[in-house]
Amino acid sequence: MKILKKQKLAEDIFLLTLQSPEISKKAKPGHFVLLQLEEKSPRIPFPIADAERNTISIIFEAKSKHTRALAAARKNQEIFYGLGPLGNNREVKEIGKIVLVGEGAGIGTLYFYAKTLKAANNRVISLLGGLSKKEMFWQDKIAKVSDKMFVIEPKSEFSCPLTHALEQILRKIRIDEVISFTSPQVMKSLAHATKLRTKNCAYLTATMMDGIGMCGSCRIHINGESKLCCVQGPEFDAHTVDWDNYLYRLEEFNRKK
Ligand code: FES
Repeated sequence: MKILKKQKLAEDIFLLTLQSPEISKKAKPGHFVLLQLEEKSPRIPFPIADAERNTISIIFEAKSKHTRALAAARKNQEIFYGLGPLGNNREVKEIGKIVLVGEGAGIGTLYFYAKTLKAANNRVISLLGGLSKKEMFWQDKIAKVSDKMFVIEPKSEFSCPLTHALEQILRKIRIDEVISFTSPQVMKSLAHATKLRTKNCAYLTATMMDGIGMCGSCRIHINGESKLCCVQGPEFDAHTVDWDNYLYRLEEFNRKK
């Protein structure tokens, strides 16, 4: 996989466009890729943010040592190892009115969903957060594939501005599904806000190593049962996720890094 384009989109948020004819042909919303920059680098999962003409794009936050190394990679550099598309893709069909909630790098994943769900005759409302209006990226692209788009400023009197914005929408319109691409804390808050009101799907990016169900590192608890995020996700019913366990496992992994 060759890096064809690298772009800084916002503070600590980068886009990489990779040459990958095989993956781009099969990639659908929901899919992710596992990338290993160099022989000694770990494999990291990245949701696919777009796929077209022999390329795929990923958007990620460069906050750890290894994601910063990826952000420092050069155009035309070859990625040592890439595997995908992995995970279960969404069956894209007409559902009705859908709210997509994205934050930070998750806005890239939101775009891929908005583009395909809109093309399948859904009414798409996009709620973008985590960055100020000035810092926000891909606003034009997302506006073109949304019926309505709102940018929610992160500084607010509300503890979770995205949840507050979603609650305002749910009070006025009957929504058929909410899909979230945010931090786990925000997903937990959105799950609480949507409970008994509408379907809520959370796109989970658990810690992963092999991406094919063999290592167990991406185990999460759903309705009291163990599930593997890589082969049974990454989409899960947000109302069935044990959010405290999920947050604990992510924090534990970050502590060990
Ligand atoms: Fe290894 Fe999911 S990443 S089981």
